[in-house]
Amino acid sequence: MKISLAKSSPLSQTNFTYGVATAAFQIEGAADSRRPCIWDTFCATPEKIKDGSDGLQACDHFNRWEQDIELIESLGVDAYRFSVSWPRVITQSGELDHQGVAFYVQLLDSLKQKNIKSYVTLYHWDLPQYLEDKGGWLNRETAYHFRDYVDLITQAFGDRVHSYSTLNEPFCSAYLGYELGIHAPGLKSKAYGKQAAHHLLLAHGLGMQVLAKNSPNTLNGIVLNVSPCYPKTNSEQDKKAAWAADQNLNHWYAMPVLEGRYPESINSLPEEELPPIQEGDMAIICQPLDYLGLNYYTREVYQDAGNNQREKWVDESLPFTEMGWEVYPQGLTDILLQLNKQYTLPPIYITENGAAMADSYQDGEVQDLDRIEYFQGHLQAVSDAAEQGVDIRGYFAWSLMDNFEWAEGYEKRFGIVYVDYATQQRTIKASGLAYRDFISSRQLAKSAQSQRSQYGQR
Ligand code: FCB
Repeated sequence: MKISLAKSSPLSQTNFTYGVATAAFQIEGAADSRRPCIWDTFCATPEKIKDGSDGLQACDHFNRWEQDIELIESLGVDAYRFSVSWPRVITQSGELDHQGVAFYVQLLDSLKQKNIKSYVTLYHWDLPQYLEDKGGWLNRETAYHFRDYVDLITQAFGDRVHSYSTLNEPFCSAYLGYELGIHAPGLKSKAYGKQAAHHLLLAHGLGMQVLAKNSPNTLNGIVLNVSPCYPKTNSEQDKKAAWAADQNLNHWYAMPVLEGRYPESINSLPEEELPPIQEGDMAIICQPLDYLGLNYYTREVYQDAGNNQREKWVDESLPFTEMGWEVYPQGLTDILLQLNKQYTLPPIYITENGAAMADSYQDGEVQDLDRIEYFQGHLQAVSDAAEQGVDIRGYFAWSLMDNFEWAEGYEKRFGIVYVDYATQQRTIKASGLAYRDFISSRQLAKSAQSQRSQYGQR
């Protein structure tokens, strides 16, 4: 089974960037060589992680990084997106931890040497516990600590990086972590959710200002998770429910960042849930972006549940991933077109897309044909949006390898590489091979084309 797109697709061109993505806490392990983060604390709290696991060892990438980079190279990708563990590189007193920094510097150097572009995420959810102890993202000061961390780390990395993103999915940090309490730090209050979101957005703006100063030659932006929100029926109530969900999920982050204001739904929030906006904040949050990273996994469908409440509805007839998420590639085209219509967008990168499937490892192979199908459908969906005018420059598969899937632990496998956690052996799945062949087919098509034109000239 292959992945393929029309030769004429913007995604078939050799200047379209293909990559794989990971995040520090999910793969690094070696927790004893860094300070604790909120996810360590959360994992140590009974009942929070489905399989009772933690990130202490994870994929042991910290010790196996050389082998992992060779693996990335063998996939023939143009780029690798990974995150820096803030508690590994900054001490409690706010100085650089040189040992921690050295780990990333060698990684960056090795990627550069192999001609693989580094897409560095500065914050992928692993807040130092010493900052959580002072209120975490509920404390406005955390945004300024983020700014200082960005200042130090970008100077230390110098010109090794191709692209930075300030935050990964602030919606998840704020909503899952501070409002629903299903992610670290596990707090549950609507007011907290909006407060954390505002301070995360502020941190983004402050971080972008530092990036513009310290690292003007990298592509600097932010990564947001998006899902189109559809009404279950055409009734006014369902449409209103879908609209409200869309405001909360997609526009609560996109609008401040792109236009310097919160969406209209802010007007219906009760006083105590309003974000703690101080004068000048919205201008700080709205910095010019070199690109916008979008993560897409599934769509959402809503129906009205009375009393101004909404509930999610799922179409049982669609295929589902192991996460219980509908496989719905059209949703990716739809959300890209919607955002492109509503905003003046910078260039877009799909910074995450992928699926947890019920993989089975047999005779040294994983025949994950369902994941290949998922990639095929979603790459086609990105291609369709690009053909309709959205400026999309790259696509990253989530994930390079199976890893710690947050509250789900290790049971959900998103990798295009299989990890046997007992031996830490890596095996490229059929989807990884298909992705590799698809990426390299662009090159082959290009050289065949140039050969043809050479003969044509004779
Ligand atoms: C995203 C996260 C990423 C991974 C995928 C499945 O929300 O950014 O770390 O867990 O979901």
